[in-house]
Amino acid sequence: MILITGGLGYIGSHTVVELIAQGKEVLIVDDLSNSNLQVLEGLEKITGQSINFVQLDVKEAPPLNELIQAHPQLEGVIHFAAAKAVGESALNPLKYYQNNVGGLLNLLQSIPTNIPFIFSSSCTVYGDADALPIVENSPIKRPKSPYGNTKKIGEEILEEHSRAHANFKAISLRYFNPIGAHASGYIGENPKGQPENLVPYITQSAVGKIPPLTVFGDDYPTADGTCVRDYIHVVDLARAHVAAFNRLEENKSKTAYEVFNVGTGQGHSVLEVIASFERVSGKSLNYSIGPRREGDIVTAYANVDKALQQLNWSPKYSLDEAVHSAWQWELNNSSR
Ligand code: UD1
Repeated sequence: MILITGGLGYIGSHTVVELIAQGKEVLIVDDLSNSNLQVLEGLEKITGQSINFVQLDVKEAPPLNELIQAHPQLEGVIHFAAAKAVGESALNPLKYYQNNVGGLLNLLQSIPTNIPFIFSSSCTVYGDADALPIVENSPIKRPKSPYGNTKKIGEEILEEHSRAHANFKAISLRYFNPIGAHASGYIGENPKGQPENLVPYITQSAVGKIPPLTVFGDDYPTADGTCVRDYIHVVDLARAHVAAFNRLEENKSKTAYEVFNVGTGQGHSVLEVIASFERVSGKSLNYSIGPRREGDIVTAYANVDKALQQLNWSPKYSLDEAVHSAWQWELNNSSR
């Protein structure tokens, strides 16, 4: 049984589907702070089975300890539970340290060290990288937000924990930009309030839920002047977690603590994502060009050779397929 914290969130829920498809049993814990029980219903419809779920906040050590002691059959932990709004993290940094660092510490204190651990990290730890595509041993920069710093600190804690305990093995996956939704239409990205990320902003504005998109700057030193990112289908990202778990379970790690980029290796500009949306939806998107967004990185895309070679994983979906799935999800859920 694999413990999935934040298993009803966007990436966690898609990972649950892929783990169950591989015959794994899961135990989801989620405090529902940024998710809801419809996601659990969606997971049960997709997988055709009932799924173990406990509503619990990983910041609360006593119930977490109790839960872990009650499940001696745990064979792995995938830790998604964290707060992730970059803007909010600057306004309320303590919330981010408490949730993201405090939650991780509680988990590490309560699980036996011989249980493999996978951590949700982010390409944000590279900051404005010196060279592209970004490789795992690029210098780690001071993150631009408290959110980013919690990911950097989380990685450091795991590395130090693995040095202190010979039987502790962990992998951090550094996600690039996850987009899209499961093909069933039962789960997808459902940000609370107005989305900050590009693809949910595009799809929600296209159905008229929110005002038209503003492209944050078209005077960057890129081919079309807009920022470039590595957009990865969330199902491909979810599959990378299964691959990482298998690596840990099969004792294939080269070192006790490892990091992997998870992206497609392809960069796409904001205007290319808009063009993709227009292609797959057959709609023309109403948008305008605005000023740059404070803190935005110009270009970020991954070198994924390490994951391709060592995780026995590769991304399957194109940008158009990912954007199409995000659009289908929006159309299915326009009333939410
Ligand atoms: C953002 C976060 C990053 C986090 C990631 C999670 C910031 C500065 N960075 O990354 O730390 O790990 O989300 O997915 O918030 N864009 C527009 N108009 C919009 C929204 C976005 O033009 O209304 C552009 C942005 O300028 C950027 C691209 O779309 O070039 C992608 O933006 P976004 O989805 O917010 O992701 P990141 O900025 O890469």
